[in-house]
Amino acid sequence: MQTRRIGDVQVSAIGLGGMPMSIEGRPDEQRSVSTIHAALEAGVTLIDTADAYHLGADEVGHNESLIARAVASYGGDTSDVLIATKGGHVRPGDGSWTLDGSPEHLKRACDASLERLGVEAIGLYQFHRPDPRVPYADSVGAIRDLLDAGKIRFAGVSNADPDQIRLANEILGGRLVSVQNQFSPSFRSSEPELELCAELDIAFLPWSPLGGISQAGELGSRFAAFTDVAKAHGVSPQRVCLAWMLAKAPVVIPIPGSSRPETIRDSVGAVDVKLSAEELARLDAA
Ligand SMILES: NC(=O)c1ccc[n+]([C@@H]2O[C@H](COP(=O)([O-])OP(=O)(O)OC[C@H]3O[C@@H](n4cnc5c(N)ncnc54)[C@H](OP(=O)(O)O)[C@@H]3O)[C@@H](O)[C@H]2O)c1
Repeated sequence: MQTRRIGDVQVSAIGLGGMPMSIEGRPDEQRSVSTIHAALEAGVTLIDTADAYHLGADEVGHNESLIARAVASYGGDTSDVLIATKGGHVRPGDGSWTLDGSPEHLKRACDASLERLGVEAIGLYQFHRPDPRVPYADSVGAIRDLLDAGKIRFAGVSNADPDQIRLANEILGGRLVSVQNQFSPSFRSSEPELELCAELDIAFLPWSPLGGISQAGELGSRFAAFTDVAKAHGVSPQRVCLAWMLAKAPVVIPIPGSSRPETIRDSVGAVDVKLSAEELARLDAA
């Protein structure tokens, strides 16, 4: 498996996004565990989750607990698996997503995530989304405190613009290791953040890289160029999409979501797809 860097560790160049296994439309636990095991078997060593990936208000952290159980029951060596979680989003249980970026909430949320993941320090802890009611510096300041206290090994931010990325890195004393923003063929407005991460040598984790849970299957029909290039390589348009992202910069580590073993196995194959400069230009323009 090709690897890329987060902080001072190497992780698989394709990660696994855990969200589809815990929100609306999620599969049963057995299928989710098979999916996570298939990812590990394929060499995936980065798994993305969040305390907010759940349905009812009584099951906060459903996805974190699921991932912790699946990693524990895998059977093989998982010592190099980096679990990346997030705090700052809240789901009250009515289907909505709300925000709480207060330092008090983030510190409580981190403690709860630590317990669910069953670790002494969280691999990568990401501030999920800026909360307009809380100064960004205060929210990131809480993440810095967690880092200083040894409760998290690495710190990241998500849904941040270039100014927020620079500010977060400053507040963290140059220790910002990752930025997780939406980026896909249908959502390209995070190019400036991707370029900034490449410049600062910070990992860039595209979320919903295939267009999101409801649109991922239609990527090929929505973007003909991805289908054409896929046919030329004898692979899926989704695999081409992830290969196109990997080619953008060495800091890019896509985290496609999966709820079936077949889809994560297919996605991992993106590391072996070599696209020509002409194909990349065509996909850029699609
Ligand atoms: N930071 C944030 O604010 C934020 C927001 C959204 C998501 N995320 C993270 O980003 C991850 C990815 O985003 P996402 O799950 O929303 O969307 P996505 O990765 O664009 O799409 C997920 C869907 O793609 C399908 N899929 C995956 N690989 C495929 C393949 N090779 N061929 C065909 N279909 C494939 C899966 O289908 P099956 O379910 O059938 O396997 C899955 O439901 C999430 O899981 C989550 O960890 C973060």
